[in-house]
Amino acid sequence: MQASEIRIAPSILSADFGAMREAVRALQDGGADWIHFDVMDGHFVPNLTFGAPMVAALRSHCDLPFDVHLMIEQPERLIPDFAAAGANSITVHVEACPHLHRVVQQIREVGCRVGVALNPHTPLDSVRYILPELDLLLVMTVNPGFGGQAFLDLMLPKVAEAAALIQRVAPHVLLQVDGGISPDNARQLVELGAQVLVAGSSVFHAPTPQEGIRALRLAITSHKA
Ligand code: DX5
Ligand code: ZN
Repeated sequence: MQASEIRIAPSILSADFGAMREAVRALQDGGADWIHFDVMDGHFVPNLTFGAPMVAALRSHCDLPFDVHLMIEQPERLIPDFAAAGANSITVHVEACPHLHRVVQQIREVGCRVGVALNPHTPLDSVRYILPELDLLLVMTVNPGFGGQAFLDLMLPKVAEAAALIQRVAPHVLLQVDGGISPDNARQLVELGAQVLVAGSSVFHAPTPQEGIRALRLAITSHKA
C-alpha cells in the first residue's frame, strides 16, 4: 500500500477536554484523515470518557469522518445514538459482545462502517468467520482504557497475521492499530500491513497537532537509511 493511502486517525482522548471544538478544527487543518473518539464506560475499561453528545456537538465543526471506538459493555444499546450523532464508523470490542455478528449487522443497519476491535490477548480466530462483513479490524496495541501507554511489541506478529488473514479472507477490510503509536513505530506497523494509525499522545504532545501528524506521515514515507 502507498504511504499516501495510510489514514492517520488522531484520538481526541489526548486533547484538552475544555477545548474540543478547537481540537477537531486543528486536526482537520493539520491534515488528519479521520477523528478517533475513544468512548469508555468505566465498566468494560476502568476509565470514563464521553458519549454520543460529544460526537454530536463536534459534528458541525469538522468535515472529517468520525471514527467511534466503543470500549463499553452492551454497545448495542448505544449504537443508534452514535449513528444519529454523526459517527461514520463504529467499532465494538469482541470481548464486549457475546453475539458479535448481531451487533455487526446492527451497525450496518444504522448506516455506519463496521469495525471490530481485539484486546491484546484476544486471538484473531475470534473474527475469522465474520471478517467478510466488516470494514475495519482494530488490533489494539495497548490494553484499552488510557492514553499514553507504551506500545506492546508483543502485538507486532499479531498485526502481521491480521494483515495476512485480511488479505486471504476479506481484502476490503482496513487494518487499524491503536495504542502507543508514534513516529518511532509507525513505519514498522505500516510495513507489517497496518492501514489506519490511531494516535493520541504522539499527536497532542507534539508542539502542535499538525506537527504531530506530519511527523507520523514523514515516518511512513521516508526511505530507510
Ligand atoms: C486506548 C484508546 C486509544 C488511545 C490512543 O484505550 O483506544 O485510542 O487512547 O492514545 P495513545 O496514542 O496515547 O496510546
Ligand atoms: Zn481507540
